[in-house]
Amino acid sequence: MYPEILVIGSNMMELSTDIDRMPELGETVSAPNFHMAFGGKGANQAYAAARLGSRVGMISKVGSDALGEKYLEHFQKSGIDVQGVTKGKKSNGVAPCFIQGNMNSIIVVQGANSELTPDVLEQYEDLIKHAKLIVLQQEISLETNYKAIDLAEKYSVPVMLNPAPANDHVDLKHISKCTFYSPNETELGYLTKMPIETISQIKKAAHKLVDLGVKNMIVTLGSRGVLWITQDNEKLIPAYKVEALDSIGAGDAFVGAFSHYYVENGNIEESLREANIYAAITVTRSGSQTSYPDMSEVKELREKLGMNSVPVASL
Ligand code: ATP
Ligand code: RIB
Repeated sequence: MYPEILVIGSNMMELSTDIDRMPELGETVSAPNFHMAFGGKGANQAYAAARLGSRVGMISKVGSDALGEKYLEHFQKSGIDVQGVTKGKKSNGVAPCFIQGNMNSIIVVQGANSELTPDVLEQYEDLIKHAKLIVLQQEISLETNYKAIDLAEKYSVPVMLNPAPANDHVDLKHISKCTFYSPNETELGYLTKMPIETISQIKKAAHKLVDLGVKNMIVTLGSRGVLWITQDNEKLIPAYKVEALDSIGAGDAFVGAFSHYYVENGNIEESLREANIYAAITVTRSGSQTSYPDMSEVKELREKLGMNSVPVASL
């Protein structure tokens, strides 16, 4: 059986250190706590959709080291289809994260993710052809993303591209083929080189990409929710008010959840509302994948956190 949601992207082992303060250059400081966790934008998005019950597969490169073994095992245990996951020559991608209060600083070391080159995708045309949605981010090479977009176009499979981390050298010709393009406001500013200080500026920048051909701009606005812009529609889908503890991986939770609901019901607005709920729950818990609930937890937490009514749109 083929996966319905195919995530082509990164996996990273998060090396998270709680710190009292960052060391100065050349200085050594001690820190109170360290832990490892599964992360990386592609894997996070795949994991969120799998937690909700989707049939998800990944095309990704794990490392040739012990971390690579561990990640492959994690994919399998999480019910993620690993037909497209292979071992690279390099060590696994890692993300040293430094957490100070509710702020994070993250360094991304691509490792084996850099071996996910465009030619690798040619072996998996069958997976691409049978997917209902292809999901991409920017923690692998942009060339690989372009190849994925071209193959998706060949088989008329819709693409959702989450342009994180931000990159201002993106080829707009390829971006314009995306059915869903979901930057946060900063990433939107990087790409369009337009101001994004106010909502009307954000709308203007989003329309620039719609005019180029993107069918749905989904601009995530953190605690304010998400702005959905198409050729003839502009809609704010407000976030749910929650006590935010840790927003790491919230954007990935949003993309994974949106993919799950959209593939299930085909209704964009409803899927955006559900993704807002899912992502809001994750910011009340710590970590990225460790904060992603499964469907039964979502049902329970919706009730507990009072998320069963539709929030009022305002900015
Ligand atoms: P990150 O890089 O931290 O993963 P991001 O910058 O890509 O996140 P955001 O726009 O911050 O993405 O958040 C994505 C979605 O998560 C929002 O659209 C919203 O649904 C939800 N969200 C984020 N922060 C909050 C919050 N404080 N309260 C409620 N919902 C939130
Ligand atoms: O979006 C959050 C992710 O970004 C983390 O899991 C970290 O691994 C970095 O890739």
